[in-house]
Amino acid sequence: MKEIPKHIAIIMDGNGRWAEQRNKMRAAGHRQGVESLRVVLEKADELGINHLTVYAFSTENWARPKAEIKALMLLLLEYIKKESKALHKKNVRITTIGDLTSFDDKIQKEISKAKELTEDNTGLNFNIALNYGGRDEIRRAVEKIVEQERGGNREGLTVTEKEIERHLDTRDLPDPDLLIRTSGEMRLSNYLLWQLAYTELVFTETLWPDFTGEDLEKAIEEYQNRDRRFGKL
Ligand code: IPE
Ligand code: IPE
Ligand code: MG
Repeated sequence: MKEIPKHIAIIMDGNGRWAEQRNKMRAAGHRQGVESLRVVLEKADELGINHLTVYAFSTENWARPKAEIKALMLLLLEYIKKESKALHKKNVRITTIGDLTSFDDKIQKEISKAKELTEDNTGLNFNIALNYGGRDEIRRAVEKIVEQERGGNREGLTVTEKEIERHLDTRDLPDPDLLIRTSGEMRLSNYLLWQLAYTELVFTETLWPDFTGEDLEKAIEEYQNRDRRFGKL
C-alpha cells in the first residue's frame, strides 16, 4: 500500500475557458466547477484524505469585472447554503482560510453557520480558501505577532507587504521577472506561498470543470511515484 497524501491543496482553474469553449457565460463555467468540486470531495473522502484545501477566490480575483464577482458571490452563497447540510451528514468539517471580512455580511454569516454546524465532525476537513492570498496571509500573520507583542494595542500598527519584503533574505533582489512556463498554467497565483515550500507539484491540462475523481487518483499516483527528500540525502 502506497502512502495516501494527508493534505491535498487544489487550485481549481479553467472555469472561464471551459465556458468560453462552449460559447457560454463564464458563470456557467463556475457553476460546472462546483459539480467537479462535489465529485472531488466525494473521492477525497472515499480515499481517506484528511485535509482538502481548495482555492475558491483569491485576493486578486476582486480585480475581475463586477458582474463576474457578483456571479461568484451568488454561487458561493448558494453553495454554502445548499451543501453544508449534506457535508455535515458525511461527517465533513468545513473550515476556511483567507480574510472573510471583505465578504457581505450574508456570506460571512452562512460561512460561520456552516463552520459551527460541522466543527465537531471527525471526517474529511474541507478547507476553502476565500479572499485568500499567500502574501496577505503572511502580512496578517506579522500584524498579529506585533499586536500580541504590544499586548493587544493596535495603535499606529499596520504592517505592509513592502515592509515584510524589506526584511526577507531576498531584500537585495528584485522579484524574478521570468519563470519559464510550458503547456498549462504553471504558477502558484499567490497560493500558499509559505506552505508549498516542499510540496510536490502536479500540473494537468484538464480544465477544472472537466476534472474527475479519476483525475484526482491519477494525481495521487503521480505523487506516490515522487521521491520526497526535504533537502536531505
Ligand atoms: C477558476 O477559474 C475560478 C476562479 C478563479 C474563481 P477561472 O475563472 O480563473 O477560469 P479561467 O482561468 O479564466 O479559464
Ligand atoms: C487562481 O486562479 C485563483 C483561483 C483558482 C481561485 P486565477 O485564474 O485567478 O489565477 P491567474 O490569474 O491565472 O494567475
Ligand atoms: Mg484562471
